[in-house]
Amino acid sequence: MAVIRVGSVGLGGISGGVHLPGIRGADNLELTALCDINEKRLAERAEQYGIAADHCFTDYRDLIACPDVDVVDISTPNNVHWEIAMAACAAGKSYGVEKPITMDSEQADSLLAATEKAGVKSMVYFSYRYQPAARYARDLIASGRLGKIHHVSMQYYQGWGLESKNCPLVWRFVQSVAASGALGDLGCHGLDLAQFVTGQQYTRVSAHLGTIVKERRLPDGSGTGPVDVDDFSNILAAMDGGISAAFQISRFCRGRGNYQRMEIYGDNAALVYHLDREPGKNELEICEEATGDKYVPMEIPQQYFVSQMQCFGNEMEGNGDGCNADIAVGVKNQHLLDAILRADAEARWVDVQ
Ligand SMILES: NC(=O)c1ccc[n+]([C@@H]2O[C@H](COP(=O)([O-])OP(=O)(O)OC[C@H]3O[C@@H](n4cnc5c(N)ncnc54)[C@H](O)[C@@H]3O)[C@@H](O)[C@H]2O)c1
Repeated sequence: MAVIRVGSVGLGGISGGVHLPGIRGADNLELTALCDINEKRLAERAEQYGIAADHCFTDYRDLIACPDVDVVDISTPNNVHWEIAMAACAAGKSYGVEKPITMDSEQADSLLAATEKAGVKSMVYFSYRYQPAARYARDLIASGRLGKIHHVSMQYYQGWGLESKNCPLVWRFVQSVAASGALGDLGCHGLDLAQFVTGQQYTRVSAHLGTIVKERRLPDGSGTGPVDVDDFSNILAAMDGGISAAFQISRFCRGRGNYQRMEIYGDNAALVYHLDREPGKNELEICEEATGDKYVPMEIPQQYFVSQMQCFGNEMEGNGDGCNADIAVGVKNQHLLDAILRADAEARWVDVQ
């Protein structure tokens, strides 16, 4: 098997927690170059991962031009995804990009066109697709175990936004960098997950978004600045196949670290997916005639335990298992986010493109 050489751009939280260790752990990936505008962070990661100074860059264009980089891994804040992915396409290099893929649908459409024109591979890091309970649920639903699906409801809650936590005005609260708040940060995952497990697309949405803390202290201590994105988003959605779906997304839920609960109700059975009910635990319950209409835990088969970055390596090699999101899936997700923002702003149902 040929090793795929990865250049990684944006070396912050998700990179240090998931991307870089995942690349190191994947059997067909090799980390060969790093890029971050923060030189201190770049130097720390270079030391940690043994990357030589001549393969460390502060400008992503230099990383993309590096002959020892085959594919580009992008985990910068949202406002830079598009230009880095476009530059990868222009260089004929495949890429993986964090969510939300771009700042709006227009950028997303142009990235899809550039990806197709360049003929490169792409993957969007919708990380919860790699949770075993989600993958098992998807197969159970595809096998017909639940029968016709009527309802999906999902809560995705974190607690770090609460005023009492005194979080500064980090980029996630700034529209020009993040595009949206809880919606693009957490909601895009929840929306993708419901689509991933049911295999159905969204047709229309309505939404209620709001900002709870409107002013936060600036990270450099020089005063305060306005929050111009949503702190919570409540979404109603219609999906193909007659599914009605509801999502509650918030960063203002005390005691919640990265809590997800998704309920899927079919004619014959219902599933409840849980993440982080107990720290780090991913669980699946089923309710059906055979369980006496009671919710009982399911044992998740070993085959559903996978690594996102190994899946990235497989996808880049042309050996994806059909469970990864490519840029076309990311574009649909971006259109959905824009439809939700419009539905909230105009207080009406909006059709999803
Ligand atoms: N898939 C997931 O579950 C998940 C989880 C967390 C974050 N994310 C996404 O990952 C991305 C990064 O989030 P994070 O929490 O790691 O952010 P972060 O702020 O911790 O890290 C971002 C890094 O990018 C660097 N950066 C900024 N502009 C750059 C540029 N032009 N060139 C190179 N480096 C640049 C910053 O210096 C920083 O080191 C976001 O898009 C976010 O939505 C995804």
